[in-house]
Amino acid sequence: MIILAIESSCDETACAIVKDGREVLSNVVSSQIKIHEKFGGVVPEVAAREHLNSINFVIEQALKEANIPPEKVDAFASTVGPGLVGCLLVGLNAAKTLSLVYNKPYIGVNHLQGHVCANFIDSDLEPPFICLLVSGGHSQIIYIKDYDNQEVIAQTIDDAVGEVYDKVARLCSIPYPGGIMLDKMANEGNKDAFNFPEAKVKEDEFSFSGLKTAVLRATKNFTPENLPLKDIAASFQYRIADTLINKTKNFAKKLNCNKITIAGGVAANSELRRRLKALEDEGFKTIAPKLKYCTDNAAMIASCAYFNPIKCEDSYLLEVFSRD
Ligand code: KG4
Ligand code: ZN
Repeated sequence: MIILAIESSCDETACAIVKDGREVLSNVVSSQIKIHEKFGGVVPEVAAREHLNSINFVIEQALKEANIPPEKVDAFASTVGPGLVGCLLVGLNAAKTLSLVYNKPYIGVNHLQGHVCANFIDSDLEPPFICLLVSGGHSQIIYIKDYDNQEVIAQTIDDAVGEVYDKVARLCSIPYPGGIMLDKMANEGNKDAFNFPEAKVKEDEFSFSGLKTAVLRATKNFTPENLPLKDIAASFQYRIADTLINKTKNFAKKLNCNKITIAGGVAANSELRRRLKALEDEGFKTIAPKLKYCTDNAAMIASCAYFNPIKCEDSYLLEVFSRD
């Protein structure tokens, strides 16, 4: 089954064509980062207009790169939420229009479930498994019992991990989006330089706002010229990865599930990927999507349309939603 999917929930306009949920035939992403950089974050109205400018191009490019005429596509899919409503509407209307024109089904996809499905791309992974989903908007541990049966078993009670990265980057004067830059700096710093605290929360909760405040307090002890940015980044990154991996591992043990995966933009983080891989020494099987399938993309949406679509009697009635 060949699915063309569109992702437009935030600041990436993306279109991909994927066969049977695992084989990517094309994967086109047009990023708006340069446009939002000067505002220090995504401006929803500007983002929606940029999606409109890019949508036709990314669809045409995805068809061209896959070398597939639109008549050969079996279904058209798009993210319906959670995300920015004005942005989601662009992708949803494009996908619904294509499905009407070519008389093929329209499939709606949940963005978070899409991130999880990035793990199916180029892999033979099958449920059950545990997924640590960490993005700019969400931090969750999900128990994927079956393709269409998932349970959120832990989540953040304040900021999402990507959000903490972006905020800490901002207070260190690193331009938006700071996650990737902080990651690079962390690799050159000393993780033992600062002892940032781990939040004392319930087993099924994450909290990162205290960590953010601790970093802010640490920066106050230095002048901007003397700020030991690399050491701060390394100590911060160590604390984040340590907390996330330990919590995920404990749930995996408790549920007697030996497969652990990660997903979402922060799954591109080098320390998190190292720590995940190290779990193999403790007997776990681990999977991390390729970097290009961690941050927002449409290949994961096409995979999710195949494995775990939003179920409804008439998919044309599906509407966008901002929060889960
Ligand atoms: O999944 P994503 O592309 O968008 C959302 O659905 O939110 O995630 C974006 C987030 C941003 O906060 C960005 O700073 C973070 O992922 N990110 C990273 C890295 N690459 C992207 N955070 C830490 N280390 C990275 N290498
Ligand atoms: Zn995302």
